[in-house]
Amino acid sequence: MSAPRITVLGTGYLGATHAVCMAALGFEVLGMDVDKDKVEALSAGTVPFYEPGLDEILQEQIAAGRLRFTTSYAEVAEFGDVHFVAVGTPQKPGEYAADMRYVDAVVDGLAPYLTRPCLVVGKSTVPVGTAERLAERITELAPVGAAAELAWNPEFLREGFAVEDTLHPDRLVFGVRSERAEQVLRDVYATPIAEGTPVVVTDFATAQLVKVAANSFLATKISFINAMAEICEAAGGDVTTLADAIGYDARIGRRFLNAGLGFGGGCLPKDIRAFMARAGELGAGETLTFLKEVDAINMRRRQRTVDLARELVGGSFLGACVAVLGAAFKPDSDDVRDSPALNVAASLQLQGAQVAVYDPKANANARRVFPTLRYVDSVVEAARGADVVLHLTEWREFRELDPVELGAIVEQRNIVDGRNALDVTAWRAAGWHYRALGRP
Ligand code: UGA
Repeated sequence: MSAPRITVLGTGYLGATHAVCMAALGFEVLGMDVDKDKVEALSAGTVPFYEPGLDEILQEQIAAGRLRFTTSYAEVAEFGDVHFVAVGTPQKPGEYAADMRYVDAVVDGLAPYLTRPCLVVGKSTVPVGTAERLAERITELAPVGAAAELAWNPEFLREGFAVEDTLHPDRLVFGVRSERAEQVLRDVYATPIAEGTPVVVTDFATAQLVKVAANSFLATKISFINAMAEICEAAGGDVTTLADAIGYDARIGRRFLNAGLGFGGGCLPKDIRAFMARAGELGAGETLTFLKEVDAINMRRRQRTVDLARELVGGSFLGACVAVLGAAFKPDSDDVRDSPALNVAASLQLQGAQVAVYDPKANANARRVFPTLRYVDSVVEAARGADVVLHLTEWREFRELDPVELGAIVEQRNIVDGRNALDVTAWRAAGWHYRALGRP
């Protein structure tokens, strides 16, 4: 059989990365988005967000003639044998549930053009039950009927490591209803499978649940260590040492036990909320009430960070100059969705502080969300004359700052390390009042 031709619907973080990586694996790929600007940017070789290494591979693959982009569903249907659905499922405003309008729009847009056998593969993070519903909808709308089959193949990539995670995943999960669908997915992922990536073949429900279960576990792990940070604050103790010590137990593991400002981004916060909402609809709401605590612990860390800063400036932000280092929800990303750093910056401003924010990549996106904050182009500009510096996203540039040099330009040497990522000994030796979450 000749190699399947691949399409990817939705060219956000997930879809753009997937399209580029599938081309890099040697497939002919057509990416599709309803957003004309995105399609134009990608076609010109520009990734419309920051992801290390993705631009170069995009340009290589376009030049090699394996990768193109379009806004047309008809073209996608005509071109592809395997159609990946990779659009977003954000939180509905004012609700916990996920907004399924983009997923539904893609299926309704594509299916009427499906005139020959093909596989539609869901990648978006969805409430369990969605795949079952979409499978019916495709059969109903596609001229080819049931020969347009659905499979569910959740994605586990992390922003900042998107290419690596896509080309060398920890595991592949195939939710399928036929051997044919399984075989098509095995062909598509032949390279990582040959390199030893484990494949879990399962039903639709399990495949959809694996994704939200994984993100819920990760969120729980972070909130667990942040709860320990709260206890360390109350009892006197150092949460980073505690994390090292429990992390040596291989059953626990040290990864994702970094206490600090907590989790944000476009995935963990909305996924645990959507999971709770879906469990409620299934009559199993009680099962996931612990995720409410996970969410609450996470949000309390933002407040604690603000409180530490207020203490350092003498009890009130009125008239205080604050330097905020970081706006992205994590380093190596320009994503500010539900960013703890930006949230803290906005809260400081509301309480009367003069805030200057610097992020190596996320200033432009942050400005769109919180236009009233002042954004500057360097650490020095942010810190000059500051009464307190807040380290809120652990970019390498910040971890490598020289506390002596920075100490010379601030008004007062006060620092809150919201990510427990700075060398406390060096900062204290340079005369800084260093405060962190969960540490004395
Ligand atoms: C997360 C998952 O890690 C991916 O596996 C998943 O595919 C993705 O969501 C998704 O659903 O698409 P991502 O949102 O890119 O990936 O970011 P993470 O690296 O998981 O970090 C999430 C947040 O947790 C960040 O704000 C980070 O600063 C915070 N975090 C992480 C901590 O506070 N402590 C830690 O120890 C680790």
